[in-house]
Amino acid sequence: MPRVGIIGAGAMGGGIAQVAATAGWEVQLYDINAEQLDKSLDFIKKMLNRSVEKGRIDDVECKAILGRLYVTQNFSAFANCDLVIEAVVEDLQVKKSLFKKVEKEVSSDCILATNTSSLSVASIASACDDPSRVCGIHFFNPPVLMKLVEIIPAVQTNSETLAKADQIISSWGKLTVKAKDTPGFIVNRVARPFYGEGLRIYEEGIAEPSFIDRAMTEIGEFRMGPFTLMDYIGHDVNYKVTCSVFEAFYWDPRYKPSFAQKALVDAGYLGRKTGRGFYNYTQEESPQEMDWDASLAQEIVDRIVVMLINEAADAVFWNIATSKDIDLAMTRGVNYPKGLLAWANEIGISRVVSQLDQLYDTYREDRYRCSPLLRTMARKGSQFEL
Ligand code: NAI
Repeated sequence: MPRVGIIGAGAMGGGIAQVAATAGWEVQLYDINAEQLDKSLDFIKKMLNRSVEKGRIDDVECKAILGRLYVTQNFSAFANCDLVIEAVVEDLQVKKSLFKKVEKEVSSDCILATNTSSLSVASIASACDDPSRVCGIHFFNPPVLMKLVEIIPAVQTNSETLAKADQIISSWGKLTVKAKDTPGFIVNRVARPFYGEGLRIYEEGIAEPSFIDRAMTEIGEFRMGPFTLMDYIGHDVNYKVTCSVFEAFYWDPRYKPSFAQKALVDAGYLGRKTGRGFYNYTQEESPQEMDWDASLAQEIVDRIVVMLINEAADAVFWNIATSKDIDLAMTRGVNYPKGLLAWANEIGISRVVSQLDQLYDTYREDRYRCSPLLRTMARKGSQFEL
């Protein structure tokens, strides 16, 4: 039976363990915290029992999956693993020291992967004697439900590692996309304007969060508006990701964090988990009358969507991923109503360019610069191939 080692039994590691065991792999789940291992196993049992109740799997299957799950606090359990996936705290030094130790315990053909969201895979790989066996395998939260996985070759990764990692994760029933080892990979890079431009519109006083959220869900057909989503993710987490992406892009103004969100973090208004964020969750809020202006709402949606399209097009321009993979990532990874590049084709590339140029003319900020790819495509009259 193929065998995978998972380091870190938190939200991600536990979920990845369930995915692998369900796909027929033996799993060795490791954590420094023994209590966390018990908690994680209990949670997986609860999830599987729920699947039995709902008739998705039967009792025999449930027992077989649990029978493939082992917990350990010893790296020697990884000796015969084909793959080890690390999902511990987002700390470069912790990850590097783990990779160094784990490499000594596994066979020479074992793939070592990191689930990092924001660190450089090349830097983590550099801790190993053989960095060519290291790559990024980035699941989304919760791993059991989210179909998308980004596979990230580092500059050191060899082609066999990449092909094998891709084949294994596909065999676990996931949809894989390949992304360059750059900040945010695909999804966490391309999605930045969803929050950033929403915040900017609010900070300029153009509309309130509830208005922008309504515009994005009713007109844009997104599942959640940016402010509801940020409250749900937690402003501490979302603000930290924004700051780290901003820094990692050498302070490109396109990724500039917002004072409005910083103020919430400073105040401890972290969103749903603290009862207050952009919205107040401590009291039953009576639906407030909103001055609904359909044309303003459309302008807001158009502005956020063209900024998202610009980000997606620029990711193609910089060879972060193919247009097809970017659209797959945004529709399957974060459930966007449409692929952004398909959306660009639909709106018309020239129209997208002129909307971006209008924003640039108004603000004269580098944040609103149009991607060279869009401009070239508009000139040639071409479309994204998807
Ligand atoms: P978490 O905090 O829920 O779990 C981390 C686990 O690692 C904890 O159980 C902790 O005891 C364990 N741990 C810490 N140091 C350790 C060490 N030295 N050795 C072994 N175990 C250790 O974190 P979460 O959310 O599961 O994230 C894990 C990784 O996945 C991070 O790199 C994060 O950036 C990434 N990620 C997180 C996503 C999310 O939405 N939470 C989405 C995609 C990736």
